[in-house]
Amino acid sequence: MNKIELKNGIYWVGAIDWNLRDFHGYKTPNGSTYNAYLVVGEKIALIDTVKRPFLNDLVENIRNIVEPEKIDYLIVNHVEMDHSGSFPEIVKLLKNARIVATKEGKEELLKHHGKDYDITVVEDGDTISLGNKTLRFIKTPMLHWPDSMMTYVQEDKVIFTSDAFGQHYASTERFDDELDEKTLYDAAGEYYSNILWLYSPLVSRLIEKVMDMGIKLEMVAPDHGIIWRNDPHKPINWYCEWANGKSVNKVLLVYETMWGSTEKMARAIAKGITDQGMNVKLMKLKETEYSYVIKELLGCRGILVGTPTLNNNMFPSMGGFLTYLKGLRPKGRIGATFGSYGWGGGACKAAEEMLDEAGVRIAFPPLELKWVPTAEELEDCYTFGKEFASKAMEKI
Ligand code: FEO
Repeated sequence: MNKIELKNGIYWVGAIDWNLRDFHGYKTPNGSTYNAYLVVGEKIALIDTVKRPFLNDLVENIRNIVEPEKIDYLIVNHVEMDHSGSFPEIVKLLKNARIVATKEGKEELLKHHGKDYDITVVEDGDTISLGNKTLRFIKTPMLHWPDSMMTYVQEDKVIFTSDAFGQHYASTERFDDELDEKTLYDAAGEYYSNILWLYSPLVSRLIEKVMDMGIKLEMVAPDHGIIWRNDPHKPINWYCEWANGKSVNKVLLVYETMWGSTEKMARAIAKGITDQGMNVKLMKLKETEYSYVIKELLGCRGILVGTPTLNNNMFPSMGGFLTYLKGLRPKGRIGATFGSYGWGGGACKAAEEMLDEAGVRIAFPPLELKWVPTAEELEDCYTFGKEFASKAMEKI
């Protein structure tokens, strides 16, 4: 079996999950990988484990390089179960390895795995020598959990970044130079928007912190997807842009419709947006997963939410989507709502409140109309689209 060597005795020993389609609510049409790494110096360290069903893949990949009992350290960069699911079995297999984690990681490992493991706690900047290689630990709390840290191999300038800079992308290609840039951008953006968007303020601070430490990077090795060896700064630059709310000349229009009236409004609004010189993306929620909509919003500077009124409230699917959006708190977007109602109304106001709670700046009051839109009302929708696009352009 071929060994996958990143450089100078550093190996990928993870697993490919071709069939993963849902990662705690985030749809993953391309599967994922659980990357674990072996750093072979005079001493040997295993960085992270894999999701429990993939234990055998990890063990086989380790045995292809060294006998597990020769491993001296098990470094736990992150405790979420996609990385520590195999932890109990691996600890038994490694026999003599010292377990290393942050203080928060120790607490989480004990709570998740229910046993009093002997765990060495490391602080920010601590190092462990493997003889000819040095591991340096950088705490990165909330990227993605309180326990999260990165591990840097000083001599090789390789950093293991845990969830950061990952992608849910299953492939036999392991490195960025083996895939085209659009595929990588889309995969990294989908991952960032659905998992890390909420933590954008921290992302900027943590990237600054790593840069201030004067760390030179030749390879960025995340726990999911492709390893960045050709241009390790590329995902860092993308993260800086996303964290700072960078968007393009585009509006996202997400809607539901009952008997077609709100859809007619959506199309008239979209025409107004494009006639004002802005691009627009229409997504009917019934046909689209929340996580795909969120990925689109990452590139858009405005969001319009269309929902008919059902039983004095918005469509339940729109409520679900806005709850998901609220959890991610997208930064620097403007928004508004629209929709058709029969008698009482109420959907647009309810949706507007949730948009506001999600951190979206409400640019206009809701545009509502009764039953089926008339030609004049569709003209109002068109104008609404133009005015919304003008407002969104102010941010350019
Ligand atoms: Fe890939 Fe936060 O786990």
